[in-house]
Amino acid sequence: MGPRPGIAGVDQDSPGGPGLDALVGRDNELSVLAGLVDPPPGTSRALVVLGDAGLGKSALVAETVRRARSAGLRVLSVTARESEANLAFAGLHQLLRPVLAAADRLPRRQAQALRAALGLAEPIAADRLLTGIAVLTLLSDVSDDGPLLVVVDDVHWLDPSSLDVLAFVAHRLATERIVLVASGRGDAAPAALAALPELRLSPLPEADASRLLDRQPRPPQGRARAQVLGQAGGNPMALIALAKAIADDPAVGRRWAAEPLPLTDRLMAVIGARLASLPDETRAALLLAAVADSPDLTAAVGGGPGPDADSLVAAEELGLVTVDKSGAHFSHPLVRSAVYHSAPFTRRAAAHRALAAALRDQADRRAWHLAAAAVRWRRSLKPPPPRLGAVAVRPPRRRPSSGPPSSARAPRTGPGGWWRPLPPLFPPAPRTGFRTWPPGPWR
Ligand SMILES: Nc1ncnc2c1ncn2[C@@H]1O[C@H](COP(=O)(O)OP(=O)(O)OP(=O)(O)O)[C@@H](O)[C@H]1O
Ligand SMILES: [Mg+2]
Repeated sequence: MGPRPGIAGVDQDSPGGPGLDALVGRDNELSVLAGLVDPPPGTSRALVVLGDAGLGKSALVAETVRRARSAGLRVLSVTARESEANLAFAGLHQLLRPVLAAADRLPRRQAQALRAALGLAEPIAADRLLTGIAVLTLLSDVSDDGPLLVVVDDVHWLDPSSLDVLAFVAHRLATERIVLVASGRGDAAPAALAALPELRLSPLPEADASRLLDRQPRPPQGRARAQVLGQAGGNPMALIALAKAIADDPAVGRRWAAEPLPLTDRLMAVIGARLASLPDETRAALLLAAVADSPDLTAAVGGGPGPDADSLVAAEELGLVTVDKSGAHFSHPLVRSAVYHSAPFTRRAAAHRALAAALRDQADRRAWHLAAAAVRWRRSLKPPPPRLGAVAVRPPRRRPSSGPPSSARAPRTGPGGWWRPLPPLFPPAPRTGFRTWPPGPWR
């Protein structure tokens, strides 16, 4: 081999990497990953890191890369892109670009197959086996100069052609000093990598989750902190995002009991994609479950339009909820949040109103739901003209002593009132007598 190629790797400040020494907890996982690269390996190894979105796969991989580099390994990496998941060999091209010059030394047919696969030479009849052998030879040659770490992040988006080749390589690694680390979402590796050893990430334990919150620029305190810890369920991405949501808008936390905090776009996209495949009646039932502040939907909706267990079967099959004698339980608090926030406001409001209608004898819970079903008009926006029959729900003149600090209170009453019920989608709840703000026990 010639001089060391300028090998691109996972940068330490790449997205998903929290930066040097910034990982909270994960001692066991780090020791497994670091053990692959430090001390530098004498033989080849492979590992697949698995876990839900936001659990810290990329962060761990970035830390592994950092340790590999400081132990003297060279790093080749690819972060698979969803947009390239259908482009044959796009991932392999990204991975091997820094060492393609070394393809000159491959046996002629292997070099031809590899270059053709990567679009660097005239196409020839596709030969996956030959391409796989070429990549194995190439990586093996590179590792002759020193141990090598090959990283594939977001392997669930790797195009199938690249995945096949990398799986071929992973299963034939032996005495080369190559470490292959792939990371991907979910709790099962892609079938091609299924025989490789796995490292499954669990949510952070509460003590680590709490430490992670303390590292945020404006960590939530008191009740809001408990809410963030509860909803994030040990997911670092959610912890960071929810802490920011509370810091940016403390009122979001006070509305919590009826409205889960909004998710990051990334989490929303992941969970939302699973929701999209569900039939309408299941989504409607899920929304009612997400809006209910109790798993016991029967109790929550009384004789009202509650979902029956049958309508939740499809969601249960996807692992989004479990239904048992005590009611419907979301598999993770973030799922509840995704269900809630993926529905348009009018549907959420209608579900809140349907629940409020069934809770006439529970003033607190009823009040939460009615408040969540109301639109808050910003003072700077001109409210729409009053609707026939609409009831403006105004705040009390004096805030109860246990209420939020004045800076976080809802704005003063304007000529049209702040809170205005939406037209109902389901039969409306009676609103007479509801004049309390802020409602509910979270104030
Ligand atoms: N143990 C940790 N300590 C501190 N920050 C962490 C930890 N784990 C993850 N993070 C941070 O949480 C966020 C999400 O982590 P990361 O991007 O690694 O998740 P992921 O599992 O790769 O998600 P995805 O499946 O979407 O790629 C990042 O900002 C990351 O820096
Ligand atoms: Mg990632």
